[in-house]
Amino acid sequence: MNDMTNSHILVHEFSYLEPRSVGEAIELLVTHGDAARILAGGTDLLVQMKMERQKPAYVIGIGKLTELQGIYQDIDRLTVGALTTIRDLARDTTVREGYTALAEACAAFSTAQVQAMGTVGGNLCNGSPASDTAPALIALGAEVVLVGPEGETRSPLERFFRGPGKTARRPDQLLTAVEVPFPVAQAGSAFVKVGRVAADIAKANAAVYIVCDGDRITDCRLAFGSVAPTPMRAPRAEAILRGQMMTSELIAQAAAVAAEEISPIDDVRSTAAYRRQVVAALTVDGMNRAWERAANGESANLRMGEWLEHDEGRTTKDASRITHHASRTTHHAPRITHHEITLTVNGIPRRLHVADNDLLLNVLREDLELTGTKYGCGIGECSACTVLMDGKPVLACLVLAAAADGSHIRTVEGLAAPDGTLDPLQEAFIEHAALQCGFCTPGMLMTAKDLLETTPHPTEADVRDHLRGNMCRCTGYAAIVRAVLAAAETMTKDQ
Ligand SMILES: Cc1cc2nc3c(=O)[nH]c(=O)nc-3n(C[C@H](O)[C@H](O)[C@H](O)COP(=O)(O)OP(=O)(O)OC[C@H]3O[C@@H](n4cnc5c(N)ncnc54)[C@H](O)[C@@H]3O)c2cc1C
Ligand code: FES
Ligand code: FES
Repeated sequence: MNDMTNSHILVHEFSYLEPRSVGEAIELLVTHGDAARILAGGTDLLVQMKMERQKPAYVIGIGKLTELQGIYQDIDRLTVGALTTIRDLARDTTVREGYTALAEACAAFSTAQVQAMGTVGGNLCNGSPASDTAPALIALGAEVVLVGPEGETRSPLERFFRGPGKTARRPDQLLTAVEVPFPVAQAGSAFVKVGRVAADIAKANAAVYIVCDGDRITDCRLAFGSVAPTPMRAPRAEAILRGQMMTSELIAQAAAVAAEEISPIDDVRSTAAYRRQVVAALTVDGMNRAWERAANGESANLRMGEWLEHDEGRTTKDASRITHHASRTTHHAPRITHHEITLTVNGIPRRLHVADNDLLLNVLREDLELTGTKYGCGIGECSACTVLMDGKPVLACLVLAAAADGSHIRTVEGLAAPDGTLDPLQEAFIEHAALQCGFCTPGMLMTAKDLLETTPHPTEADVRDHLRGNMCRCTGYAAIVRAVLAAAETMTKDQ
């Protein structure tokens, strides 16, 4: 790391390119090879660029390729577009009902903001051994769909990972979708995770898929994260379980073998010894939960043959949107370098000139002088910079301004009515003394606004869960939680 590192800005310069189709994206990857990086939600890539661990000459923003978004349940598989966000997966009814391990992995994932920004494709392509979606998808038997200049290839996800930060994806390939086979009758799954705090990446995580026939286990897959150089299966533990009657002794035996099969290390999050103990405990816990679901048949309620409503109500019906071939390549000039963008900020359209490495947060604070949104850590860990982008909570410190072109942004300055009447949340924060220095308050308010817009009657647990990524150094959180609950009551008292 050199002396220039400063997480408030992106130090190094690059060209931001925005393809209009999967074909164009692949042309750009072919042209620029390893000098280019794909940008999806940016929650890994921009942090790595800010830390100067990655210095791509070209950043290829695919966030607007709607053909990579969506969740489709067909007769034999669930297809998840690469750009599907963790939030959409966690909230999707079909995923929750039929692919519980995946829904649980997404619910346990980081913070409300990172869930709204991070994509499944980015989570897998980042190649982290601690990925949450990878063990869940491996346990569910998923395949990845990669598209490159020679066309489309598919391979089992468990063979995709090659080492920390390394995958089987070639630099000229785009991950377009993940496909999960339809769970057989009497199958159940579960995901469990242990982290240092609720919003952290895993010390260890585990996913279990199990098929039962009466009291017998007919098939199972166990997958683990953060306990080896890649997300991994535990074949010896699986072999102990397969074909056997389900008993607590059998689970304990398999758990002990799984704890031997992993190859954990000591690092900032945990020790190898602790990880072995945790894996044994997670195996028992995951097995019991998956078994209960298998007995009820997890897949019983799945609807098929239509795009599933997600992403705040968008529905479409064409499964072919997610399957691509390089032959779709168009012949437009493939590069669009953004210098002039339009943002609608608090209802007002703004035309702005931005450099390729400008961040949304700098543009809001410096160009538009909307200094309510705060700069804290600059790397996604404090949520002080939360704004609503197209209705979702995002971390403005991890959004390229060029990539935000065309979006609607709401900042804390846009909460009060035009006549100055404060939002009920702002009133409640004052009334309940939910702020002291006030540094975290704009981020808290915007995150709470998102909660109340989607969950008008939250419980205390809902509020704590949704605000789990917003750090406050002063209040101890209790007054903030009280204020959000009071605002919810005020806003719904006539309903
Ligand atoms: C504060 C914080 C907390 C986090 N907590 C968790 C956690 O609890 N669990 C967890 O698993 N992760 C966590 N992460 C990591 C990160 O949020 C996830 O990995 C996320 O899903 C990445 O998705 P993205 O769309 O933001 O990826 P990006 O940052 O856009 O991309 C990640 C990598 O994948 C490549 N890429 C992206 N999409 C594609 C594609 N379609 N084809 C080819 N290459 C592609 C990019 O070039 C880049 O190398 C956390 C990150 C932060 C900042
Ligand atoms: S400043 Fe953006 S998360 Fe901390
Ligand atoms: S009020 Fe000071 S950081 Fe929250």
